[in-house]
Amino acid sequence: MLTGKKIILGITGSIAAYKTAFLVRSLVKSGAEVRVIATRSALDFVTPLTLSTLSNHPVYSEYLKNEQGEWVNHVEMGVWADLMVIAPATANSLAKMANGMCDNLLMAVYLSARCEVMFAPAMDLDMYQHPTTQQNIKKLMDFGHHLIKPGTGPLASGLNGEGRMAEPEDIQAQIEAFFMSKWPLRGKKVLLTAGPTYEAIDPVRFIGNRSTGKMGYALAAELAQLGASVTLISGPTALACPEGVNRQLVESAEEMYNATMAVFAKAELAIFSAAVADFKPAETVNQKIKKDGQALALALVPTLDILAEAGRRKQPGQFVVGFALETNNEVANAQNKLARKNADLIILNSLQEAGAGFGYDTNSVTIISKNEQIKLPLASKHEIAHQIVQYLINRL
Ligand code: CTP
Repeated sequence: MLTGKKIILGITGSIAAYKTAFLVRSLVKSGAEVRVIATRSALDFVTPLTLSTLSNHPVYSEYLKNEQGEWVNHVEMGVWADLMVIAPATANSLAKMANGMCDNLLMAVYLSARCEVMFAPAMDLDMYQHPTTQQNIKKLMDFGHHLIKPGTGPLASGLNGEGRMAEPEDIQAQIEAFFMSKWPLRGKKVLLTAGPTYEAIDPVRFIGNRSTGKMGYALAAELAQLGASVTLISGPTALACPEGVNRQLVESAEEMYNATMAVFAKAELAIFSAAVADFKPAETVNQKIKKDGQALALALVPTLDILAEAGRRKQPGQFVVGFALETNNEVANAQNKLARKNADLIILNSLQEAGAGFGYDTNSVTIISKNEQIKLPLASKHEIAHQIVQYLINRL
């Protein structure tokens, strides 16, 4: 959910600081990279050892790292983060944030941060209700910061009321919701075919091809990370299902056809990256075929073309992407395929370039639509997937 997200957690001096250990643990578990900056008084409530162990990184509190004069670069940290979360945020720290006071490392990082900021107040109920605190909170929200509302209940003072820091799981949920709201493909229904198909000759033999599924899986991972709801219909592969992707494993072209057609009508974007066998044995023998020293002729019949059928069924609002692998007249053939299969886009794989194509971790492709051709130079399949998806986001 938070894979690769860079989060600075700023902890200030409240008893609620002890709860941040749970927050750091769950953020890291969700895939986030967490850097903790704690004020000096926060460390009266929670130890740096606990936080550094859970975040797998040193905890910073002071500008100076050691007596040799090494210092913590607050500007670098501020630029590094995708999100800064101040939790717990005391009345004192809220006042400093609202008024640009910079008397500790955390405030220097806050003032240097280019990312968005969330803050989770924690204090006694009268302090929370005080007009100056409320004014500071309003000011911070006017800056565009996000308030993580405190809860109501027993407070450390013995009083009962509003001011308890939100629970770590609530803070985590709000952080996740924050990142989800930024996803450009949030909720978009995407269907993707990937990998080879195996066409059975007998119980032990099949006709297959060299596709590994790497390009399709990289696309599925990239789309899911940007919030799309991805159904991946995959032929046989050794690859693990990317996080957040709904995978259906199939074996033959016919199974892939049926699984795809069952969900195609609901897909807003359908990408056909599978290397589907074009032919299958006219019949599959139930028993293993025995050799008898004679030649064996296999009768083959064409499989159904899944992409072409999707192109036929395509409705307004659906965007269909096919792949092509050509050996000659590459662009002209790909353009022809685009029209013939009624696709909106063809991703043309290059067979000419070293390092591109089946089995490699790198690829080089050309995006071909009716009116344009965009060549993406050799890069990792993840980078190519990223660029294809960025192109699709602009087109959609
Ligand atoms: N495709 C498909 N079902 C098939 C065959 C191909 O969905 N039975 C899709 C592939 O997933 C890919 C595109 O069609 O998106 C590739 O087509 P390709 O096999 O190259 O096209 P053909 O029309 O078979 O062209 P050619 O015979 O010229 O290679």
